[in-house]
Amino acid sequence: MVKIIMHGCNGHMGQVISGLVAQDPDAEIVAGIDVADQGKNSYPVYTNMKECQVEADALIDFSSAKATDALLDYCAERKLPVVLCTTGLSEEQLAKVEETAKKVAVLKSANMSLGINTLMKLLQDAAKVLATAGFDMEIVEKHHRLKLDAPSGTALALADSLNEAMDNQYHYTYDRSQRRQMRDDKEIGISAVRGGTIVGEHEVIFAGPDEVIEFKHTAYSKAVFGKGAVEAAKFLAGKPAGRYEMSDVISAK
Ligand SMILES: NC(=O)c1ccc[n+]([C@@H]2O[C@H](COP(=O)([O-])OP(=O)(O)OC[C@H]3O[C@@H](n4cnc5c(N)ncnc54)[C@H](O)[C@@H]3O)[C@@H](O)[C@H]2O)c1
Repeated sequence: MVKIIMHGCNGHMGQVISGLVAQDPDAEIVAGIDVADQGKNSYPVYTNMKECQVEADALIDFSSAKATDALLDYCAERKLPVVLCTTGLSEEQLAKVEETAKKVAVLKSANMSLGINTLMKLLQDAAKVLATAGFDMEIVEKHHRLKLDAPSGTALALADSLNEAMDNQYHYTYDRSQRRQMRDDKEIGISAVRGGTIVGEHEVIFAGPDEVIEFKHTAYSKAVFGKGAVEAAKFLAGKPAGRYEMSDVISAK
């Protein structure tokens, strides 16, 4: 039984994970931490992180970048492996993540879904064959109308996977409206669609002479991120200090 502390337990993802873990015989949330609490959880909730000294195997964080510095210090001090899912960290915070990973196990990923992380691995193999054979690579992502940033962090991470497989020789294009020229060989086009309540769709297109291969991932609910985070917490429990990725969780399966 993996004992988990849920940081940001009263937020959207914190509640998704509370629901998932309640149905999971191999995991238990032993405490929650959140700045706001209405006492509706089945586990004790601390509004002041320092007061939470409950014994646990791992901490899952879906909260706010404003909380990240104190959280990293807390986990390092308690030697508590941490699954860091909060996005929007500053350069300084990313450096602090690396420093903290010298003292305790840290897994950070902008997209916790096992599907997207598996897709990234598959894309690298595909790019090495297809891009080398002259196929053009394009990404189309679709999200709900409320999303503020474009393209999505996940689309950029997919592009980075493709580019890394091709020795980082490619550049990214987000808008072709201002130019009148054919696409560059070493270009990855990234297009963003916004509308309705689409949770998240990512399509990676390899377009070659007379044939096209498409990889598509669709998230139907935020539960996919929650499931990945719980898998990551189980993986991280008992691991020595170091920096871990979702790809490590997938490889261990
Ligand atoms: N990595 C992924 O796959 C993934 C997926 C979904 C969301 N996210 C990220 O996770 C974060 C949370 O997402 P959400 O949808 O649950 O947001 P949310 O706003 O619904 O929940 C955040 C929770 O954190 C709490 N919180 C804020 N500041 C805090 C602090 N200083 N200490 C403790 N608790 C604090 C809030 O009270 C709230 O309950 C965001 O950064 C989001 O981008 C990542």
